[in-house]
Amino acid sequence: MAIDERFLDELTARCDIVDLVSRYVALKKSGNNYFGLCPFHNEKTASFSVAPDKQIFHCFGCGAGGGPIRFIMDIEGLDFPDAVRFLAKQYNMEVPESGESTGYRLKRGRVLAALKDAARFFYAQLHGPAGAQALYYFRQRRLSRRTMDNFGLGYAPDSFHALLDAMKAKGYTAEELDAAGLVGRSQNGTYYDKFRNRVMFPIIDVRGDVIGFGGRVMDDSKPKYLNSPETMVFNKRRNLFAINRAKKTKSEYFLLAEGYMDVIALHQAGFDSAVASLGTALTDEQARLLTRYTKTVVVCYDADTAGQTAAQRAIDILKKAGLRVKILRIPGAKDPDEFIKSKGAEAFRKLIERSDNDVRYRIESAREKYDFTEDDQRILFLREAADILAALDSPVERDVYTASTAKLAGVTQAALEQEVKKAQARRLRQQKRQYHRQVRAPAQAAQPKARAMQFRDVRSARAEQGLLALLFTDASLLPEMREKVRPEAFSSPELGRMYQYAIALFDSGRSITVSALEQALPPEEVELLVSALQNQVPADQRHRAMEDYIDIIAQHAAARDIPGQDSEDPLLRKAQLQRKTKRFDGTEG
Ligand code: UTP
Ligand code: MN
Repeated sequence: MAIDERFLDELTARCDIVDLVSRYVALKKSGNNYFGLCPFHNEKTASFSVAPDKQIFHCFGCGAGGGPIRFIMDIEGLDFPDAVRFLAKQYNMEVPESGESTGYRLKRGRVLAALKDAARFFYAQLHGPAGAQALYYFRQRRLSRRTMDNFGLGYAPDSFHALLDAMKAKGYTAEELDAAGLVGRSQNGTYYDKFRNRVMFPIIDVRGDVIGFGGRVMDDSKPKYLNSPETMVFNKRRNLFAINRAKKTKSEYFLLAEGYMDVIALHQAGFDSAVASLGTALTDEQARLLTRYTKTVVVCYDADTAGQTAAQRAIDILKKAGLRVKILRIPGAKDPDEFIKSKGAEAFRKLIERSDNDVRYRIESAREKYDFTEDDQRILFLREAADILAALDSPVERDVYTASTAKLAGVTQAALEQEVKKAQARRLRQQKRQYHRQVRAPAQAAQPKARAMQFRDVRSARAEQGLLALLFTDASLLPEMREKVRPEAFSSPELGRMYQYAIALFDSGRSITVSALEQALPPEEVELLVSALQNQVPADQRHRAMEDYIDIIAQHAAARDIPGQDSEDPLLRKAQLQRKTKRFDGTEG
């Protein structure tokens, strides 16, 4: 891809990650590594680690991780090429702008130009003869002409080539339109318009560039919304719908809604700080983006169960990023758009003023689960509430909510305080155990739970991670390793790909480092790799560990491929595998 690899190798070899991170985070040495408070989420105990030997950082709390370039991208909010330039400047190096890199920049420029011209085309269509129905649709949804213009709304005509033709006439090639995510390609190689007969919502980034589109059908057909695919300019995880407008708000808080239409309706009603995530659940990156513009986020998701579940998740992510969170309940309507339509902007403003902080929201949500006429249910509620209260950092806050919760459940404040104290002690014990598992004995839990879950075959994936950790620690193991296990034997395609990349690096005479892979891997895979590398095996045991890991991977691969294997006693196999892993997952030497 973009920048010359040799140059990147040289640049990252010159960087000292400890030195680099120290400019932003106070670090303390402990063993081989350094620890500090994670700059990417809000925390009180240091779970952010920097490993100078591998030149990586990793947070055991939020999962952020990578090499020097990733660190600069995340902390300075830069994209990959800009982070490279930023670092190069500090080390007095000249980024080679020749060949590929210039090509990349030119192509990026063409893609952005194509997206802008496409937005103009859709806009013209909406207000031309083909757009009558689309215009009627927006009007019926109560959007004013001014709002439509503010958001650059448009219409993609009911044709497989209207956009293609118009864009070709402007000098764009089909390949460029493909790179922009605007067209698809059929089996026989012909290109066609991806968005057809849909009303179009341009997605515009903080710099004001159109980076993608959402397109909605005007009836009940599926999919309701079609979104641009990920492209060289469009990363869904890092962008928010309407951030280009919301960033100019004077409001102290931001509103986070679920849908495009909610955001547009909110802006039209005067709430100019509304944004939405892009057809996916809120991500850590989006929360981080919000921290650049505000300290408080009011979550106003749909009132249905799906919306409320998504809200719970969003709350956690926003809090982790250090934001204050308030939650808005929308009575008698499905979403903000409908509420404003039926009750008006003033009513919505009142909702915001009365919106609960997340403590009250959590207590209320717990309250709804129990029937207070039953004593045992009330006790269950109090226990759940005590857990919520025990998690609060501020004693004042805890006091206030303990009092109101006691009143709610009809018990004395003293009784509830007792419960909260017990819950706090439980929490403390749990935190200590967790710290021990994650920081003191990382081999036992190499990665946060959420990441382990995504593996199809957790036990094999553990071994695969172990193997990668060995490889990135000691590349001299590679010749033997590659002879005994092939990337295809890996149960996790992501880990298998990393193994393959490592082999390719080795073959081209480069060193096997995280930095060398960063350009090729999406951020979540870099994080996965870095968390895998937290596995440490003492030097004199590495060879034996390698053989055991390879054994496990081979056995699991065989079990996957040969159906007959399934009839083997699964308990027996499990026991065998456990014995194998134990030797190196355990602390015994
Ligand atoms: P909703 O189904 O709640 O739609 O999806 P909405 O925003 O209320 O849309 P209207 O009011 O019916 O027009 C919420 C968001 O989820 C994403 C879109 O970003 C949408 O705005 N989504 C939904 C998709 O990406 N694809 C879909 O098929 C549906
Ligand atoms: Mn809606």
